Amino acid sequence: MKFDDHMVNRSTFYSAKYHKMEEVGMQEGIPLWVADMDLPVAPAITQALLKRASHPYFGYTYIPQEYYEAFAQWQKKRLGLDIDVNLLSPAHNVVVGLQLVLEMFRKSGDNILVQPPVYFPFYSIIEKAQCGRIDNPLIETDQGYFMDFEDMEKKIIDNKVKYFILCNPHNPIGRIWTKDELNKVADICHLHGVTVLSDEIHADLVHEGEHIPFYTVSDKAKQISMSFYSSGKTFNLPALHSAYVLFHSKVWKDQYDAISLAQNRGDANCFGIAANIAAFTESEDWYQEMMEYIQGNLDYVTNFINNEFSPKIKVRKPQATYLMWLDCRGLGLSPEALSEFFQKKAKLLLNDGELFGDEGKGFMRLNSAAPRYLLEQAMGQLKSAMDELA
Ligand SMILES: Cc1ncc(COP(=O)(O)O)c(C=O)c1O
Repeated sequence: MKFDDHMVNRSTFYSAKYHKMEEVGMQEGIPLWVADMDLPVAPAITQALLKRASHPYFGYTYIPQEYYEAFAQWQKKRLGLDIDVNLLSPAHNVVVGLQLVLEMFRKSGDNILVQPPVYFPFYSIIEKAQCGRIDNPLIETDQGYFMDFEDMEKKIIDNKVKYFILCNPHNPIGRIWTKDELNKVADICHLHGVTVLSDEIHADLVHEGEHIPFYTVSDKAKQISMSFYSSGKTFNLPALHSAYVLFHSKVWKDQYDAISLAQNRGDANCFGIAANIAAFTESEDWYQEMMEYIQGNLDYVTNFINNEFSPKIKVRKPQATYLMWLDCRGLGLSPEALSEFFQKKAKLLLNDGELFGDEGKGFMRLNSAAPRYLLEQAMGQLKSAMDELA
């Protein structure tokens, strides 16, 4: 697969990434914000979708066992894990899965722990569930970001925290969490009766080290958690809305399935089924090539930014995800001025760091999953804007 050759005009099919440019009044520029890839999907996925589309019946569809088995096969191949397919449930997407789980368990007013800067829809999920949000900010050091366990335990006790939405690997700062770190989380949460919702959507996008699913670190971790997965990030299929929730207790799974049914959230998307099976069972070569390509992109952008713009803009190559957390604090701009600088001067639409929490002020998030020439163009535009600023 030659990813460089494949840039297409995505506005034809209602791309949210490109549409947002119009919404914010950008006549021209490059959108590098929302986490999808400007790269084509695996050929086996296209073929499976064409095959499904050529069968002209789109009636109600059930989710076949193969859908779950394909995911289990992938987990076995990638991480050597044996998943009990009877403990997997479908979700419309990861965010809806998280939302349903909270609806099923939480009492109004329960407190939920998060680790900003973090994927900001967690905040709205908590708000929608009418729960309290307790922040356990990550600690920023010269070596990267780390969890603050002392603060975590204190906040859990002081606020009687009931749930923790763990981002594993962590978006936007790109950390994979070590076994030691996850074990500490498991020990603290188990001791204080906290249920861990582990969002593992970026699990396959690891460039350095190894992804460790939270539930695998100990029996305690398994007892108190559930995990959320999707082919959306790995295989670039977020619009097909097909995610998985992995439970470790039949009781929790049954409760989840009941609420999902009651809210009509469990219906199957026939295209999602076809694409997921093709992704997890026939697309490993594409996945390996995509990972190599993304790693090249990450190296390119990291080197360019650090060589050309440091100390005004700096970036650390993420251990996981294709998202890059640009530290723009050296520019000394307010969050509003920083956003305007990127949009109006550099003509780049990125995510404002502030969205991920106060800790994100002065940062911007850049999505590197694009053809290299587009990133080269983006870096060129940023360089011109920086030169003007000097
Ligand atoms: C950590 C995390 N969770 C969930 C999502 C969204 O997943 P979905 O589209 O399946 O709801 C994203 C998307 O960027 C993400 O980064």
